[in-house]
This record gives sequence, structure tokens and C-alpha cells, in this order.
Amino acid sequence: AHLSLWGGRFAGGPADALAALSKSTPFDWRLARYDIAGSRAHARVLHRAGLLDDAELAGMLDALDRLDADVASGAFAPAPDDEDVHTALERGLIERAGAHLGGKLRAGRSRNDQIATLVRLYLRDSARDLAAGVLDVVDALVAQAAAHPDAVMPGRTHMQHAQPVLLAHHLLAHAWPLLRDVQRWVDWDVRAAVSPYGSGALAGSSLGLDPDAVAADLGFAAAVENSIDGTAARDVVAEFAFVAAMTGVDLSRLSEEVIVWATKEFGFVRLDDAYSTGSSIMPQKKNPDVAELARGKAGRLIGDLAGLLATLKGLPLAYNRDLQEDKEPVFDGVDTLELLLPAVAGMVATLTFDTERMAALAPQGFSLATDVAEWLVRQGVPFREAHEVAGACVRECEGQGKELWDLTDAELAAISSHLTPAVREVLTVEGSIASRDGHGGTAPVRVVEQLARAADRAGTL
Ligand code: ARG
Repeated sequence: AHLSLWGGRFAGGPADALAALSKSTPFDWRLARYDIAGSRAHARVLHRAGLLDDAELAGMLDALDRLDADVASGAFAPAPDDEDVHTALERGLIERAGAHLGGKLRAGRSRNDQIATLVRLYLRDSARDLAAGVLDVVDALVAQAAAHPDAVMPGRTHMQHAQPVLLAHHLLAHAWPLLRDVQRWVDWDVRAAVSPYGSGALAGSSLGLDPDAVAADLGFAAAVENSIDGTAARDVVAEFAFVAAMTGVDLSRLSEEVIVWATKEFGFVRLDDAYSTGSSIMPQKKNPDVAELARGKAGRLIGDLAGLLATLKGLPLAYNRDLQEDKEPVFDGVDTLELLLPAVAGMVATLTFDTERMAALAPQGFSLATDVAEWLVRQGVPFREAHEVAGACVRECEGQGKELWDLTDAELAAISSHLTPAVREVLTVEGSIASRDGHGGTAPVRVVEQLARAADRAGTL
């Protein structure tokens, strides 16, 4: 039998097509235990306001405990006629507490303030889990950096050889954005820690219920200042979706590099068998599927955010049913990252770097030309002229098909009288890297400090 929440005004039940369209239990059931937690807190404020006596409160809490246990075990689940998680749980409560007591819990609350609260409760827990998963990826990057303190590689801009850098410096350059993503979850939680419970449908409650008490009971820092805002706002949900998308994008940029590095042409890394896949037809293949799925799922996370923002953009205050569409995108973001993060962490932790090949490639493509120019500056040559001179060296080398360090003393002198043989001291990868020793630079002394700071940051977040 259809247990309607609004029987009085209506002569009949909804059309099948409306019921099917309206139903959200297939996706909002994951909020069930948060709904029950909210119901316990609500029962307590009803009691405090004198709307439930002591025995009624005890009976209500007992029925909610039994319902919670049945939800946890799967003994209680949504029925086909239940519209949403709230409807299903009201049915479950009435089955356990009886229609008289069970029917009292709905006083002073609306599904509008309930759902806004439950989504925040769920997302706050999810943010903590996801942040821990991101930190596992950071840990893997930090461990790889620590395991390769001296390894060098070609640093690139525009995908072209630019200047040599330490592998550890490059790996940590992926750790910092992920640390900022974790910080974003933490910052976000300040805004999420405000409870809409007590906003009612939109205008608040006339029953003397205390929203601050419910907020404290549910672990929130405060109750919302405005009941209309409490029921209508979803910026906290959208911001969560943004952090999920940003995390996905950061994982995708790391993954793109892994994909490129694993090619025959680069040959920088070998993927562990456990984190790569084969081909059904080509026996030799070893594919970077984890990295590719990370890149692909970043698109999906961006779509979740874009879809949610599009849902919100035209909505007048206060609650509109469109808001039911907030849940699937953000739940998809949680599920996607929960699958992705352990796989990416495992992939990174098990990469094997071909440090010899990276070292051989590091000085190629004239990546030491800037060092020549900066050496000239230290000899008193204006940078504008130094840049020209170093550029002329590159042109000479390209013409002859050789590298900068192959230029003879005579060739150097012919390019510029400032180019004495002493310039050779900067024509090594190690010399170049060691010279970039300002804060944040790639010099080994700085990268050791940076590594400690990244590990420290990961430990305190
Ligand atoms: N299931 C709805 C949602 O997810 C909450 C119910 C509010 N429905 C309503 N007709 N006021 O937003």
C-alpha cells in the first residue's frame, strides 16, 4: 500500500510515471543512517520542547535504534512505493513504533531541511575518507622522491627540453597540488560544518525547537543563520564537487606523465605488473590503464561539477525539486575517487625509474644553454647580451650536430671573447642543478629540505 506523506489534500496516489520519475531511493539510500542520526537529534529537541514525554522519547529512540540496526543489516530496505530515503524511514519507524508515536517525529521538520543536513553529514565523512586517500598518493610520491635523491631528468616546458632537474623535485611538484587538494577538503569543512536542521520547509519552526541543539548533537559547529538559505543553498555541495574535480585533474596530470614516461620513446618508467594490463591480441603489450582511467575519470568529475552548477544556476529560493539532482553527481564523485585513489597510489608506489636513461637525456636538447647565459652574467655580461651569446652557441652546435660541451675553446672564443674555457664548469647536469639553490629550487640541498617539508605537511593534514 502506498504510504503517502500528504494524504489529506489528495484524492488519489501519484501516476506511475510520476512515482517513477520522483523516486530517489536508488541513490539516496546511502544517506539512511545519517537520516536516522538526524531523527534521534530531532526526537531529543522535540522532547526538550515538551512535545514528546520521557516515555515517548525512550520509545522513539528505541525504535530508531532497531531501525538503524535493520538498515545496517539490510533487513530493512526501501520498498518500491517509497519515494525517498525519508519516506522509507518514516514507514520503517511507524512499523516499529506504531502510527501514534511514529507519526510524531515529523513535527517541526521538513524533508527540505532534512536532506540539506544529511548531504552535509555524508559529505563531511566522505571528505575525510577522500583526503586520507589523497594523502596515500602523496605518501607514494614522497617515498619515490626519497628513494631517488640524486636522480636527474630533463625538465620540460612546452614539452621541450628546458633545464635539467632532480627527479625528486619533479615528483614533489605533483605532491604539492595534491596537498593543497587535501587542504581544500579541510577548508571546505568549515563551511560544511553548519547545520540546516530546524529550517523546516523554508521559514523555520513554530514549535520552539532548538536548531543549535540539533546542530551540536550532529557534530556541526553551528546552525544556519537563515532558514531559507539553509534549505535552498547547495554551494557547499558544489564546492565539494569542485574539490573532487580538482583532485581528479591533479591525478590526471600526474597520470599523463606516467603514460608518456612509460612509452618506448621516453622509457623513463616501468609499470609494475600489478598496476598494468596486457592486450588480448598483442602479446608484448603492457598498458598504463590505471593512469588512463585516472585521466578519463577526471573528465567525469568535471562533468559532475558542471552538471551540478547547471542545475543550480536558475533556481529561485527556496527549495525546488530540482535540488534532488544534487546527489547523483556528488555521490558519483565520491565513488569515483574512492576507486581511483588507491589504484593511483599503488601505481606510483610501484613505478621503477630508469635513472640512467633519464640522466643521459637530461643534458640533451641544449638544456644547459641557460647555465651558459647565467655564467656570463656572473662574469659581468648584461643578460641581454649573454642570452644572445648562449643562443649563438646553440646555433653553432645545431649546425655541426653536436652538444654544447663539444664546442672547442677556439669555437667558444670565436662566438664571444667572454667565453673562456672556464665556462665548462657549468656545462654539466650536476653543476647546473646544484647552482639552482634558492628556496624552492632544484638543487639537492633544497630538495632535501623540501622533501622533509612535504612529508611534514602530509603528516599534519
Ligand atoms: N528527496 C528530496 C531531495 O532529495 C527531498 C524531498 C523534498 N521534497 C519535497 N517535495 N519538498 O531533495
